[in-house]
Amino acid sequence: MTYLNVRSSSSAAMRRRKPLLCALSILKPDFILLDEPTNHLDNIGIEWLESFLKRYTGAAVTVTHDRSLINAVSDIISELSPHTKKFAHFKGGYKHYLEEESKRRLRLIEERRFQDKELKKLKSKTAQAQSRVKARIVRSGSDRDKLSYNNKEQRAQKGITGLVNQMSDKVEQLNDNLVEVIPERLQVSFDFDGLSAFSSLLGITVVEVSKSYQKQIFANVSFTVAKGERLIIQGPNGSGKNTLNRILMGLTEPDHGSVSISGNAVVGYLDQEQENLPLEKSPLQLIEEDTKINASRQTAIRNFCDFGIYKWHDLKTPQKNLSVGCRRKSQLCQIIMRKSSILVLDEPTNHIDFPNLEVIEDALLTFPGIIIATTHDRYFTEKLATRVIDLSNYGSK
Ligand SMILES: Nc1ncnc2c1ncn2[C@@H]1O[C@H](COP(=O)(O)OP(=O)(O)OP(=O)(O)O)[C@@H](O)[C@H]1O
Ligand SMILES: [Mg+2]
Repeated sequence: MTYLNVRSSSSAAMRRRKPLLCALSILKPDFILLDEPTNHLDNIGIEWLESFLKRYTGAAVTVTHDRSLINAVSDIISELSPHTKKFAHFKGGYKHYLEEESKRRLRLIEERRFQDKELKKLKSKTAQAQSRVKARIVRSGSDRDKLSYNNKEQRAQKGITGLVNQMSDKVEQLNDNLVEVIPERLQVSFDFDGLSAFSSLLGITVVEVSKSYQKQIFANVSFTVAKGERLIIQGPNGSGKNTLNRILMGLTEPDHGSVSISGNAVVGYLDQEQENLPLEKSPLQLIEEDTKINASRQTAIRNFCDFGIYKWHDLKTPQKNLSVGCRRKSQLCQIIMRKSSILVLDEPTNHIDFPNLEVIEDALLTFPGIIIATTHDRYFTEKLATRVIDLSNYGSK
């Protein structure tokens, strides 16, 4: 058995995944277990992996959030429900899973409704029968008639007690096998109050921006994005996507060129490595102590609930002790609450689960400002992009 550890958390180590993945085609294992193999892989790496898995004749188990990969290669999706703590299996790809998952939820609701009705009926019948047992008072007697009457009564009571026991067993059985209903998907509702008032002049213009470190990263990047547009920035690993985002945010100086932002824009940045996130602060502190947010504690809590961070314990826990996905959601919540008109999102779909992703994407589709997102997620790109630029076309060497 060969163990290739393709699971890692640091970005640099993620980039070392490529040679590890290539080793798969040389070692030709009979069974492959892959843990989030496409995180931080660029399009070339993802396409390579996808075509490898399509050709691969052994058994592969992949833990992944990559919906396009699932659509392309999966025969069966096994979802571990956070509610029931059990696996549910769905044949086919991601789109089929989405349809089936919601059908299944409705089926479970129906089944549970039926069970609850049955339970109510059984309980009331049991109670009725029980009251009959109690109501019968056996007369004492010494003559034959009284004795025979009492015998009859005892038999009748025995029958009723048996029935009560039978029904109680059924109630217990039904209680043990109650279908667990999966709650409805979280409805992310961004607080868009006042956002419709974004200036029609809102825009971001990048003119001939170039950057080198030891070598040239990119040169002469130019584009303009206007209100209502959603630009996706793509490029292989190391092509300078983070660097460009940092230049847009004013965190890194370009060697040449300029970035101008118009229309009283507020720019919100979801960074890839969460460098800007104060990990000592809890999600609630993040919002309450942010001078750019003037919202009540109640509004903050409501917004966090909308983002799926709803446990009181999570809201009060320092973010260093929360999952990366949870931290990302609280960061996104902060950006939205700052009423940002331009969202610069670096790998926004990493670490967020399917149902949440779908609702976050649907919400982003209604965002009235500008979205500039850097992503390798082909599903996200297909769903949201109004335009795509590839940094490998800008002279990265
Ligand atoms: N502050 C810095 N000093 C020196 N080199 C840097 C610095 N920041 C980035 N680089 C280099 O610039 C190149 C582009 O890095 P960047 O992180 O922008 O790429 P990326 O496209 O976001 O990559 P990935 O897809 O892996 O996230 C890399 O070779 C990186 O090592
Ligand atoms: Mg990057």
